[in-house]
Amino acid sequence: MSPTARRTVLKGAAVAGAAGLGVVGCSTDSKLGHAEVPTPTAPVDLGPADAVPVGGAKLYREQRLIVHCPAEGQYKAFSAQCTHAGCVLDKVEGAEGNCPCHGSRFDVTTGKALKGPATVPLPEVPVRAEGGKLVAGPGA
Ligand code: FES
Repeated sequence: MSPTARRTVLKGAAVAGAAGLGVVGCSTDSKLGHAEVPTPTAPVDLGPADAVPVGGAKLYREQRLIVHCPAEGQYKAFSAQCTHAGCVLDKVEGAEGNCPCHGSRFDVTTGKALKGPATVPLPEVPVRAEGGKLVAGPGA
């Protein structure tokens, strides 16, 4: 075999190998869609702290967070990713967060699962108000 032909064969094998990996990567990715890290891995800016009603809670769907304000200037945050199969909660009604996928309900003041199929509470996330703005996540 000439050196050129040999190189071509090796190249072909490398491409086939990469394509194989690509397929594996895809199926893993689609699973990850429901199993992403449920809490922020870096600080997340949530905007004005007064957007969260005192005694109530606000859902930040895009950031996958729920912030509860038990009293003026006090905040608690939870992951808004359902602990059943990972859907993001779609609304907060009173003190309950709703999962649109299979109907789990969570107490947004404690994170506790109130109605299944989820049984595991929403993980709490550190949060602080700084200069009138809320920041959640590590270091908050
Ligand atoms: S993913 Fe929320 S109830 Fe199933």
